[in-house]
Amino acid sequence: MNVYDGQRIAAMLTARGMKQTDDVSAADIIILNTCAVRAKATDKVFSALGRIRNAKKADALFGIVGCVAREAGADAFRRIPELNFVLGPQSYHKLPEILENPDTKLLNIDLGGLEKFDELPQMEKSPAVAYIPIQEGCNHCCTYCIVPYTRGREISRSFNDVIKDVNHAAQTGAIEICFLGQNVNGYKYTDSDGAIYRLSDLIRETAKLDAIKRIRFTSSYPTEMTDDLIDMFRTEPKLLPFLNLPIQSGSQNVLTRMNRPYSLDLYIDIVDKLKSARSDIQISSDFIVGFPGETDEDFEQTMDIVKRVRYINSYSFKYSPRPHTAAAVMPNQIPESIKAKRLAILDSYLNEIQRDFNLSCVGKKLNCLYEGPDKTGKHLVYRTPYMQQCIIDSIDGNIPSMTMIEITAANKASLRGKIAKPD
Ligand code: 5AD
Ligand code: SF4
Repeated sequence: MNVYDGQRIAAMLTARGMKQTDDVSAADIIILNTCAVRAKATDKVFSALGRIRNAKKADALFGIVGCVAREAGADAFRRIPELNFVLGPQSYHKLPEILENPDTKLLNIDLGGLEKFDELPQMEKSPAVAYIPIQEGCNHCCTYCIVPYTRGREISRSFNDVIKDVNHAAQTGAIEICFLGQNVNGYKYTDSDGAIYRLSDLIRETAKLDAIKRIRFTSSYPTEMTDDLIDMFRTEPKLLPFLNLPIQSGSQNVLTRMNRPYSLDLYIDIVDKLKSARSDIQISSDFIVGFPGETDEDFEQTMDIVKRVRYINSYSFKYSPRPHTAAAVMPNQIPESIKAKRLAILDSYLNEIQRDFNLSCVGKKLNCLYEGPDKTGKHLVYRTPYMQQCIIDSIDGNIPSMTMIEITAANKASLRGKIAKPD
């Protein structure tokens, strides 16, 4: 979501004649696009702001947008008095106001819903992977999560608006469409005639475009994984066989306290249905360890679910108490040392599974999307359908944007391969 927001902000300023620079000391405007999901991310923003205020030109405009802006609000000006603007994730389209009135302080952390989508200019050229938000906010009130506060209630964009964005992306260079939403599979839009559109309808419509070769979506909530959507994995070959389906914890007690009221049996049932829809599907998850009251036994149950589903490419975090959330004031907060120990155990197991999965790909041919050269310039980096990085030697002539790659080696972090000869 933040990558998308960053691209739109860049497009907005480019349309006003500005150019991007990586050099803080040369910039006329410096924008930190921020994430507030864990305290560490917020702390990093404030330490970066401290560094930037010393490095920037005296008259450069300087501010934050996104969830930390919404979290901190006017307090951000108190902490960093040099800041010129603080704009929430649904009001960053107001940024030009500070260019017009550079001597003011601009604060807007309103939840404007979908307004920004109408205000922002389209990007002239789409990246190969086009992120398309189909929804803002989240109606699930997980007790640890700040997102319902920072991004507000869930609103789905209209089917036609989304498809317009998809068409524009396809016409300007997109090969892969990634639909975005905090609760993306809960997408539901009712038009003026009462017709209901779901994520499966967006996928079906998008797949009709020749330019689009791959479709994916993130992030999903388990109980919104409806049969029509599961069926898309059976019927739509452009839909990648890879799904992020966060479970967060393998303990029923912890899930209840997280206010994620699904049963583990139901979750497993959904995974099994997905596997029978598409046998080569792989699942990834997000995990939180050290949620208030999590016992050793609860944690063992998380390890059990990891063993059962064999998640690839997962994200795991230590629970971080956040303002405006119920869990922050729950009793039995877990000491940092225990959180760290549990995270290390979980991570080492997840890494082992990832390595085994990567090794199981050796000898296979995977259809991959070109991402760019590596840092040395001697290799090309591709993405497999499972979002693994696959590195091949540089080639002379045209670099194919999509190609079959034969996987020749693998480790925990990435794959090596070579362009496969046609069968
Ligand atoms: N502490 C730790 N991790 C969190 N996440 C969300 N809120 C918190 C928190 N307070 C994680 C969840 C979510 C991912 C985007 O971030 O695992 O799926
Ligand atoms: Fe946060 Fe995701 Fe839960 Fe929504 S579903 S409250 S975004 S963790």
